[in-house]
Amino acid sequence: MTKVKELNIALLGLGTVGKGLVNLLNENKDEILNKHNAKINIVKVYERNADKLEKFGMDRALFTDDMQTIYDDPSVDIVVELLGRIHPSKEFIEGALKAKKNVVTANKDLICMHGGELLKVAKQNGVTMLYEASCLGAVPAINTLKNNFLGDEIKSIKGIFNGTTNYMLTKMTQEGLSYEDCLKQAQELGYAESDPTNDVEGIDAAYKLCILSRFAFGLDAQFDDISKKGITKITSQDIEIAGRLGYTIKLLAIAKCNNQKLEMRVNPVLVSNEHQLSKINGAFNACTVEGNYSDEITLIGRGAGSYPTASAVANDIMNFAHKMGDVGQRTLKKAKIEKDGQMKFYIRLSILDKAGVLAVIAKTFGDNKISIESAIQDKNDNPEVKSLIIVTHSTSSLNMNKALDKISKADVVQSVDSVLEVLG
Ligand code: NDP
Ligand code: HSE
Repeated sequence: MTKVKELNIALLGLGTVGKGLVNLLNENKDEILNKHNAKINIVKVYERNADKLEKFGMDRALFTDDMQTIYDDPSVDIVVELLGRIHPSKEFIEGALKAKKNVVTANKDLICMHGGELLKVAKQNGVTMLYEASCLGAVPAINTLKNNFLGDEIKSIKGIFNGTTNYMLTKMTQEGLSYEDCLKQAQELGYAESDPTNDVEGIDAAYKLCILSRFAFGLDAQFDDISKKGITKITSQDIEIAGRLGYTIKLLAIAKCNNQKLEMRVNPVLVSNEHQLSKINGAFNACTVEGNYSDEITLIGRGAGSYPTASAVANDIMNFAHKMGDVGQRTLKKAKIEKDGQMKFYIRLSILDKAGVLAVIAKTFGDNKISIESAIQDKNDNPEVKSLIIVTHSTSSLNMNKALDKISKADVVQSVDSVLEVLG
């Protein structure tokens, strides 16, 4: 019988995911021993105070609030960072790598903004940093892009990359709940970030899109190159009108690569009810990868939550048990950024209810080479005006910006209330 491998972990952060990981490793220890001939021991927990450990039923003696004790402990093999946010996690991970500890993290903010830098430090110190849980919770998106499509060329990745907003949009659509109530529920269920601004503003999804684009296209995708719009301005009126037109509103992350030129965005999209992404509900995430030869492959699973995320963290830990080595990142080439996307649009305007209004709007669209697929007039909260809802054919986003700039200044238009992408 070969000797049982013992792996000692220093856990940073005993929050939603940290607690899930402790429970998972505990509940699964026999399985881990049988399957991997390994024992995973948590030997230190970095937190704000020891009471948190005790309340959770852990030994107070594992507590530390001094990272140096972790760097200096030769028994620590892996530092698992589950604190979140960029600082001080960046400094802690850097310190751990320099102390020749392997690192596992679920921190997308950090990997998106400083992943390359940290991977270099890891390499210089002969250790590895893994971060599967940083993208789409339990869905193995990074490992799939890293280990598959190797003989193919990926043309696009798109999907639902944030559990909180998908949960909120699902509840707003299916149960008519308010934005505020849905956000509160998502926070209580452990889906949202400690500050949910990143979730609702599309920033969290953009971090993940940036990380996954690097694996998908081998280009140095940067966060600032992604255009971002969240769900804060989505109204129940938009959800209701979209439903009537046969669409469901989803926050989509989309990256396309054409001749090494990258187009990346996160925005709410009217997804046709025929399209599978319209059916991804609650905290589930999905990522559709389109290869030149493979065509579309979609991964679906729980994108947030304690246990699903802990499962991805545990997978990285078990990779170390097998010494499976570097699934870090390929060498990246400089990316050229495409600023003009082609897409269909849904536009809701508040207009004066009088003759000639439609002609003014249609002419502005025509002048900007935008073709209208359908237009309907609807009631408005303000009895003096009407809502005009337009769905266009696929068009240039730059032309659309020009047209909307002109339309918003027209006397007959009171306001441009909503501009959303349409899929399917
Ligand atoms: P939580 O806020 O629930 O947990 C973080 C824990 O770390 C809290 O106990 C927090 O204490 C503690 N902590 C944070 N900063 C410090 C610090 N500077 N010093 C000491 N303790 C600190 O976050 P989650 O568990 O939800 O998320 C952890 C990481 O996993 C994040 O990077 C997140 O983006 C990522 N992630 C989360 C998912 C989820 O579904 N929740 C899914 C995928 C990834 P306190 O509460 O006192 O601040
Ligand atoms: N807040 C994130 C989400 C957690 O809702 O998707 C998973 O990364």
